[in-house]
Amino acid sequence: YFLGIDVGTSSVKIILMDMNGTSIFTTSRQYPLHYPHVGWAEQDPEDWWRGVKDGIREILEKSKVPAEAIKAVGLSGQMHGLVALDKNDRVLMPAILWCDQRTQEECDYLNNTIGVSLLAKYTGNKALAGFTAPKILWVKNHKKHIFEKIAHILLPKDFIRFKLTGEYATDVSDASGTLLFDVENRKWSQKMLEIVGISESVLPECYESYEVTGKISQWAADETGLIAGTPVVGGGGDQACGAVGTGTVESGIISVALGTSGVVFACQDSYSVDEESRLHSFCHANGKWHVMGVMLSAASCLKWWVENVTTYGEKNGYDLLLEEAEKSSPGSNGIIFLPYLMGERTPYNDPDARGSFIGLNITHKRGDMTRAILEGVAFGLRDSLEIIREMQIPIKSARVSGGGATSTLWRRILASVFNLRVDVVNSTEGPAFGAAILAAVGAGAFRDVNEASRSIIKTMDSVFPDDAEVNVYNDIYKIYHGLYKNLNKSF
Ligand code: XUL
Repeated sequence: YFLGIDVGTSSVKIILMDMNGTSIFTTSRQYPLHYPHVGWAEQDPEDWWRGVKDGIREILEKSKVPAEAIKAVGLSGQMHGLVALDKNDRVLMPAILWCDQRTQEECDYLNNTIGVSLLAKYTGNKALAGFTAPKILWVKNHKKHIFEKIAHILLPKDFIRFKLTGEYATDVSDASGTLLFDVENRKWSQKMLEIVGISESVLPECYESYEVTGKISQWAADETGLIAGTPVVGGGGDQACGAVGTGTVESGIISVALGTSGVVFACQDSYSVDEESRLHSFCHANGKWHVMGVMLSAASCLKWWVENVTTYGEKNGYDLLLEEAEKSSPGSNGIIFLPYLMGERTPYNDPDARGSFIGLNITHKRGDMTRAILEGVAFGLRDSLEIIREMQIPIKSARVSGGGATSTLWRRILASVFNLRVDVVNSTEGPAFGAAILAAVGAGAFRDVNEASRSIIKTMDSVFPDDAEVNVYNDIYKIYHGLYKNLNKSF
């Protein structure tokens, strides 16, 4: 058996997987997310650890699998978050999370004074408010007394690794999201360490995602019920682990995650970057690379709509609205929806972008507006897909996951908007499942990540693009794509 732990933003999810790749027990523990100021987002790393300990104990008790039978542990987590420890390993301040927007000045300094082209040369990426390096600069600029005490910097899942093994370690996929990492050469960037003003000894040791980084300590064994000496593998950022968990490990396959945020993720056999740094270029968990575009509001657009236009108890709001949307037609009878309810990351990097319905007339119905939301999110994802196509990365099919992927209508819309086959796979457990697969590889149960993923993940259902709809959507996409430029001054 293998254990996969995903330290998410709202909860930690833990999966026990057997040797065949079947998830036999899952649990989760929620923890609070604090917003001390508008645009800030923080968590207490000790809350993550309490959730992890509790969840592992429940799995060991209820699954009846003896702890001795767990051959390895894999870790996944929310990316980019800053955990700072002092020389006695005490947490110095609440973790600053990926969705925290306080670092605009630090990003401006990095992107304008240091310059996007140098950043891209050193790291493969430009500075975005969520990334770790601007957060470290923020602490240096605003909390000098804390900055001076920092002895160790860790990413969220690596704080849990530290608790489990006593080691300061990370993996290449998560390190990629720090803007301190030379993604092409898979090692910390000395140039970036100089720019940010920290020494390499503060940063964790970096491993490949499938490599063993340490073993469960006796202290952690007493806390969790696991056996001391059980190996812990590198694991990965939640996007890389999510991709492993849907079998997105070979070039030609893209993963499309329709969760709160929307992600288009494409594997690459060799390193390359978008010249304008619109996509993130990160190390993948299989020893290769990937590019990724992130939309800040995807399935959350539909959630927002359902919560505001249906009455609780009317019937399941989602089913009702999706049935109505089904009766509208491709193109939503002329309505276009812009999905920027929380600003947008890819491709605009604009926290002030806002959502809109365009083209309303007196004949429109609620179903047309619901369908426009599904289509608007699909067009937003296509913005990332078009950059991937511009980079000449081959694309044969897409694998969808996340809450939005349960809608067959949304899957049909995606297939025709992308002009691609859209597959749903047998695993719906997300990053924790990918982390368990990486643990299995680290324990030697599979030759490599691609072999493990190929043998565990199977396609359950495929949707093919409809030629007539593809033409309709190509025309509307051109209009959609021009709308942000025309409207952004009005947001
Ligand atoms: C990836 C990203 C999110 C976080 C939180 O770049 O910001 O996916 O990892 O889940």
